[in-house]
Amino acid sequence: MTKYKIGDVVKGEIRGLQHYGAFVQIDENLVGLIHISEISERFVRNVEDYFQLGDIITVKIIDLDESQNHAKLSIKQLPDSDRIGKKKMGNNFYRKRKYVNDKVDYFSALEESTMESLNKLYGEVNEGIVKIDYSHAKIVLNFDQYQEKINDIHEKMHNKDIEGKEYLGWLDLPYDYSEKEVASIYDVSNTIRNKYDTLVVCGIGGSYLGSRAVIEAINGLYSDDKMKIVYFGNTFSPTYTSQVLEYLKNRNFIVNVISKSGTTTETAIAFRMLKQLLESKYTKDEVNSRIIATTDKDSGLLRKLVEENCYQSFVIPSNIGGRYSVFTPVGLLPIASANIDVYDFLLGAKKAYKDLLDSDLKSNPAYQYALVRYLLYKKGYAVETLINYEPHFAMLAEWWKQLFGESEGKQGKGLLPDSVIFSTDLHSLGQFIQDGSKIMFETILKSRNSQFDVEIKKDDKNFDELNYLSGVKMSYINEQALLGTLSAHEQEGNVPNIIIEYDKMNAFNLGYLLYFFMKSCAMSGYLLGVNPFNQPGVEIYKRNMFKLLGKV
Ligand code: PA5
Repeated sequence: MTKYKIGDVVKGEIRGLQHYGAFVQIDENLVGLIHISEISERFVRNVEDYFQLGDIITVKIIDLDESQNHAKLSIKQLPDSDRIGKKKMGNNFYRKRKYVNDKVDYFSALEESTMESLNKLYGEVNEGIVKIDYSHAKIVLNFDQYQEKINDIHEKMHNKDIEGKEYLGWLDLPYDYSEKEVASIYDVSNTIRNKYDTLVVCGIGGSYLGSRAVIEAINGLYSDDKMKIVYFGNTFSPTYTSQVLEYLKNRNFIVNVISKSGTTTETAIAFRMLKQLLESKYTKDEVNSRIIATTDKDSGLLRKLVEENCYQSFVIPSNIGGRYSVFTPVGLLPIASANIDVYDFLLGAKKAYKDLLDSDLKSNPAYQYALVRYLLYKKGYAVETLINYEPHFAMLAEWWKQLFGESEGKQGKGLLPDSVIFSTDLHSLGQFIQDGSKIMFETILKSRNSQFDVEIKKDDKNFDELNYLSGVKMSYINEQALLGTLSAHEQEGNVPNIIIEYDKMNAFNLGYLLYFFMKSCAMSGYLLGVNPFNQPGVEIYKRNMFKLLGKV
């Protein structure tokens, strides 16, 4: 039992260094871990750039395990005065200090129980942040039968020797991204947060779904963050358009217009209106300073406007398509502006990149998921319904639907991606899933830990007869709803279920999860025999609409 409590600022000695963090001995009773994401607000590539064995450092205790012998520690949550080094480089970045004596790597001497406790505090220390449970999928899986095919696609993808290879830039991005660009995104997002109260994200499809999914999944639907994010340019709805413009009249807003092609009509019309609204209020220079464009490096009308008006701009790499662009400035700038740690987000993607580099089906959950859904499709299921138990993951489901729907639905093939939020939709579509046509299977997104929790309190009068739940947490009830529904749908409803289990929804784990889905989706498209990176079908409605509108 330790004398320390959560929130204490203490000194300790670095006793072990791992790729995911540093072990710190606080005293004879307490060992802690500074996870790599808790070292700095900036992206930390190597723990060893910051510490050496034997360093004495100051840390903040941010969590303690039940035994009170193991702690989760942070440097980035320390007050400024306690940070290591004190030498500031740019925004909140603290240089490593130089150290003295080397000591024996303590990590190897840590007992198993220590690791277990730390693993409980830090899901990330465990291998396998995302796990697939296909034991409810009603298929017999023989990995050996498909391993060769999977290996072949995997090799071709990584060697960029496959149909669609010109759009495989996202594959290595978590490893390859430009630190300079991410630092610049971070700086611009700080300016946005300091100078304006509203960010208008003007884009459609892959140009806004990723950032919106992340922002809502992390911040929730009723966040009290000072920055309001408004999504525009994703519809022709006259009511939505009018109301957003009316709302913005009284806001101090900045626009991030995002379009790879620079010609998408929904986005272009909305951008014209935003520009005109700004022009009605400000000087030309002020208008230009309130527009940030994210678009192709050279081509498209938007790039031309950037050059003419000297807008600040970011580049969408030409080898990354919209629905695979969440780790580019398309996603990162709005995400950072919503006060979400993009360094952690990228670090999560990088961890997924590493974990999913091995094509062995036994250890690669992304390929397991791709294979199981492919086999269910082959068995005749036409629809995959993504099940969430959190309303603020609705946009995450929309991102997932676009990713899989646009990547696979071609040449008369593909699963229709659908989504529901339970338990809400158990009171609407639950009946169909349980008892209706047997066209679908379910994929459940199951979290190991919820972001927030609340307990049901006892009521002395028990007027609602709910006292049997006194002291029970909502997370527990949500989990029992999941388990009860799973068994109803699987056993009585005969609906196959896949469970994708992930840890708490934070920037790191979400970065991991999104990369995991992107890699699954690419594999899944190739298993189906389609190019996962084009969308030829999207052009046909545009052609008809332009004709009706008299476009010359
Ligand atoms: O995934 C895709 O490529 C599409 O959904 C695009 O993101 C969407 O059509 C918007 O295109 P653009 O960024 O060119 O405006």
